[in-house]
Amino acid sequence: MTYSDFLRLRELLDLQDDIGGEPDALFFVGIHQSYEIWFKIIVQALEAARDALGTDDADGASYWLRRVASAEDVLLAQLPALETLSPARFKRIRENLGNSSGFESAQFREIEFLSGLKDAAYLDRVRFDPGDLERLRRRLAEPSLREAFTAFCERRGSTDLVGVTLDESIDPQVLRLVDHLLDHDSRFARWRSAHAVVVERIIGRKHGTGGSDGVDYLRGTTDKRFFPELWEVRSYL
Ligand code: HEM
Repeated sequence: MTYSDFLRLRELLDLQDDIGGEPDALFFVGIHQSYEIWFKIIVQALEAARDALGTDDADGASYWLRRVASAEDVLLAQLPALETLSPARFKRIRENLGNSSGFESAQFREIEFLSGLKDAAYLDRVRFDPGDLERLRRRLAEPSLREAFTAFCERRGSTDLVGVTLDESIDPQVLRLVDHLLDHDSRFARWRSAHAVVVERIIGRKHGTGGSDGVDYLRGTTDKRFFPELWEVRSYL
């Protein structure tokens, strides 16, 4: 077994070849594909963290939530690379995109649903493959990380999160998990804002290929939070 066999590099590196003859297409496709691989890693870790909370395994949940936040740091670090794509060159790539868009990333929506932001309206608004649609419906029906955390706190009688946050000796394990969850939430919020700025730099105020208002739509998403109750606690300390 060679390095290349093990990683199936021939198949992987063939997946960026020959896209519309545009030299920047390698970069554009490659960065999206690498995002999708990281999304896959995040989905696995979120699911494992949720399941660990379901069995009262706080350390297990912490292990996986650290992975989530560090993967999201990578997602954030990749964004400035997009600023090397000139508007003129993106315009040419855009001609080949049709109406496909990051809007249709099923794994992005899966991260939202699994975390706790279950907006079923996206299932009607976006064209998903039948397999993706079924997976997303399943995510809507099953407990989210947010729900698993609430149930975990209820089982150990730590429902007063204002009290637990103010007196750090009451339940340090819950406090640590709150920090991990906020790490995930704040990184995602930062990604939403940073993506909107990059998009504005490349396409200004034009509509998105996915049919939304573009930057105006993206700016409307930057206040979304997976765990609003954890942010709210901060106002009552
Ligand atoms: C040239 C670079 C990019 C441009 C111009 C761009 C543009 C846009 C626009 C205009 C939207 C709004 C939906 C629409 O109408 O299409 C959008 C959404 C989205 N984009 Fe990008 N994007 C870029 C790069 C990326 C990259 C690298 C990713 C990584 C996967 C990404 C992921 C997403 C996601 C997940 C959404 C949906 C966000 C939501 O609904 O909250 N985009 N993008």
